[in-house]
Amino acid sequence: MNEKFSGSFTQQEPLSDAAIAAALEVMQHGRLHRYNVVEGELGQAALLEQEFAAQMGARYCLSVASGGYALATALRAVGVEHGDLVLTNAFTLAPVPGAIASVGAVPVFVDVTENLVIDLDDLASKVGQAKVLMLSHMRGHLCDMDRLMQICNDAGVTVIEDCAHTMGATWNGVASGRHGAIGCYSCQTYKHVNSGEGGLLVTDDEDVAARAIMLSGSYMLFERHLAAPDRTVFDRIKYDTPNISGRMDNLRAAILRPQLRDLDAQVARWNERYRCIEDGLRETPGLQLTERPAAETYVGSSIQFLLLDWASDKVQEVIRRCADRGVELKWFGAPEPAAFTSRYDNWRYAPVHSLPQSDRILAGIVDMRVPLTFSLDDCAQIARIIRAEVGAVFQQERALPSQARQR
Ligand SMILES: Cc1ncc(COP(=O)(O)O)c(C=O)c1O
Repeated sequence: MNEKFSGSFTQQEPLSDAAIAAALEVMQHGRLHRYNVVEGELGQAALLEQEFAAQMGARYCLSVASGGYALATALRAVGVEHGDLVLTNAFTLAPVPGAIASVGAVPVFVDVTENLVIDLDDLASKVGQAKVLMLSHMRGHLCDMDRLMQICNDAGVTVIEDCAHTMGATWNGVASGRHGAIGCYSCQTYKHVNSGEGGLLVTDDEDVAARAIMLSGSYMLFERHLAAPDRTVFDRIKYDTPNISGRMDNLRAAILRPQLRDLDAQVARWNERYRCIEDGLRETPGLQLTERPAAETYVGSSIQFLLLDWASDKVQEVIRRCADRGVELKWFGAPEPAAFTSRYDNWRYAPVHSLPQSDRILAGIVDMRVPLTFSLDDCAQIARIIRAEVGAVFQQERALPSQARQR
């Protein structure tokens, strides 16, 4: 009898006692709005920003309603306007081109490589088309950030980093989100800290920080922020910056603060699980793992592998066979968007230019969540199941006469 996995791919861990106690305290006093503080009180949202700025070594931090809101705010804060072109990854998720579209700008997609990062040669060839790159560290894969920054700095292109999947990751010792002008993070349930919804934005640029704070809906209460530039900077921008409310509240901030203190320990737990699955999949015939460069430290909250150049019905067969054995895989080659998974040619509000290299790679990307509720035994079992099913389909394919294979 084939073994079957019975765990849930969407079950998170409960919040810690410290986070629950902090939430209770806010609910007991009732001051949930971030600017609703009593004399001398430092609100939870302001404290969260102060602590996250320190953790990231950033001068300024703003907490907001979602990661997607942080991205759109970042675009507005650096001056992206209606009709502007914004470079971004062909391999990412819908909130990234969505943030670009939300400010009336137009995404220009840059190819993905077999290591699932932005193709720096393609970026170099397109960099002259735009003033801003919204770089998605999609599924936690960091490209050579030194070379990327060189390309963008040489071309005068501002980099906004989408760190929805890289909170806690580094490139050459520099935290993800600290290479470009702005780093944006998501605190949504499936990310590395969980407040249901929520986002964080960090920057060292005082004008960008002041504009982002005004944009987020601070009215003229910006002096209640603890990781903000001084008021003279707000005096420069306050009449020209619209209020587009998307604030963080004190309840979510309260539960995020203890989680951020635990981040390093959680990253270590994710990576144990990731490596266990990776080890179990190594050298599976037909399956290609991504290479993780020595300069990268990552957070293994999901894992991807490539069934590169497989016929799409065979990839689908692997997905179906794994699903029958309790293992939920997502596929970036599906023509129709499904649940959280979609691809650049599904986003028809953006002009689509053909990207044959990305098409080939997307058609082979298989993606799996690694929640912390999995034990190491679960991870080993999941890897055995994937290995067996990929192996079985791959062998069938090999056994076919070559004419049938080409069909
Ligand atoms: C790559 C990527 N960027 C940005 C976001 C936006 O985050 P949020 O859901 O907090 O708006 C997500 C969320 O799934 C994402 O996957």
